[in-house]
This record gives sequence, structure tokens and C-alpha cells, in this order.
Amino acid sequence: MFPRKKTLILMLVAGFTAFAVGYAVRELVDGPPPPTAVKIADGISIGGDFTLTDHTGKIVTQENFKGEFLLIYFGYTFCPDVCPTELQRMSEVLRKLGTAADRVRPVFITIDPARDTAKVLAEYVGNFHPRMVGLTGTAAQIKAVAKAYGVSFGKSWATETGKKPPGMSPAQAEKEYFMSHTSFVYLMGDDGRVRDIFRADVKDENMVKRILAALEG
Ligand code: NI
Repeated sequence: MFPRKKTLILMLVAGFTAFAVGYAVRELVDGPPPPTAVKIADGISIGGDFTLTDHTGKIVTQENFKGEFLLIYFGYTFCPDVCPTELQRMSEVLRKLGTAADRVRPVFITIDPARDTAKVLAEYVGNFHPRMVGLTGTAAQIKAVAKAYGVSFGKSWATETGKKPPGMSPAQAEKEYFMSHTSFVYLMGDDGRVRDIFRADVKDENMVKRILAALEG
């Protein structure tokens, strides 16, 4: 029974962390202008160094993006609705930013590295923005960067419970799954520190205004 108990404890911890980050994020989004600090609440910080592989196959770290503002979204290319909608919105916001958008780099980080190889990302990111960078990595690298941004994710299947259908072969199950994931757009400053976080319900115009304010600030 021990492993089950351990799993339950891990789930509780993960659930609490997700709640705490969600709460902190809401405070940040609804409250006064966000601090430039990485720490967004007691015990909760957003961002930090990462090592990942971009959609051209190059290994990149936080350093490669120094001097650029980043609009970061975590998701996966097989996502049927939420991810394409959010990435579409990101490209729409960049269009509305006009020339100011030249200082902002859209970044898509996959939380499904098993399927989202650099090649898959290369075919995907161009659909949304010519300068969008797709990032993937090892399972451990993705886990680390997701944790740094308070992003939780997990596999699910198209069943009522989200569990693997009993009749599905393991090989098929490893091909045909969905990923549930946190859906925020992060604005990182040219110094690598978090400037703003946008929930899906933030209007495009509001997002444009807040990005412009961050670019000026
Ligand atoms: Ni998605």
C-alpha cells in the first residue's frame, strides 16, 4: 500500500502547490501592477534559468534570450483547442503591438516532449508567428522549467475518467493521449524577470496595454 499512499501525498502536495500558485497569480493579475521581482508571493517564485532545445535543434538557455522581452506559453502541439487558441491570441496581441512587438519574442514551451520533438515544433510555431521559438527538452528539463513557472501538467485519455481505456494497447496509449495543463501567458522582462502573467480571460486590448507599460517601465 505504501506506493499508493506516497502517490496520494504527492498528489496533495501538487494540488496545494497548483492552488497556491493559482492564488498568487490571481493576486498578481487582479491586484496592483506586478513587481519586477521573481518572487511573486511567499515561497512562490516564477522563472529562472533553463536549458532546453529550440525548434532548430539548438541547445538554448535563459542567456540566449537576454535583452529580449518574452511572451511564454506552455502547451503541446497535439492540443485540440486551448493551446492553438492561446497561441493565436498571442500572435494577435503581437500584431496589435505594432513596432513595439519587435522587442517581444513569442515562446512556446512544450509540456509533451515525448511527441513534441524539435522537428514537430518547427512545423508548428510558424503557424502562429514568424519569430516564435518552440522549446522542447528531456522529460527532466521540461519538468524543471514547468516547475519554475508553476505550470502543472499530466497525461489523460479520452475517457470519462481520463484514465487509459482498458482495451487500448500500451503502444497506442503512448501515442493517443491528451495533456491537461495550466494555461497562462507569462511576460518576462529583458532581464529575465517576470513582469506580468495573463490568464485566458484577459482581453487582448488589456494585454497590449500591459505589455506596452512593461516595455516602457
Ligand atoms: Ni493545451
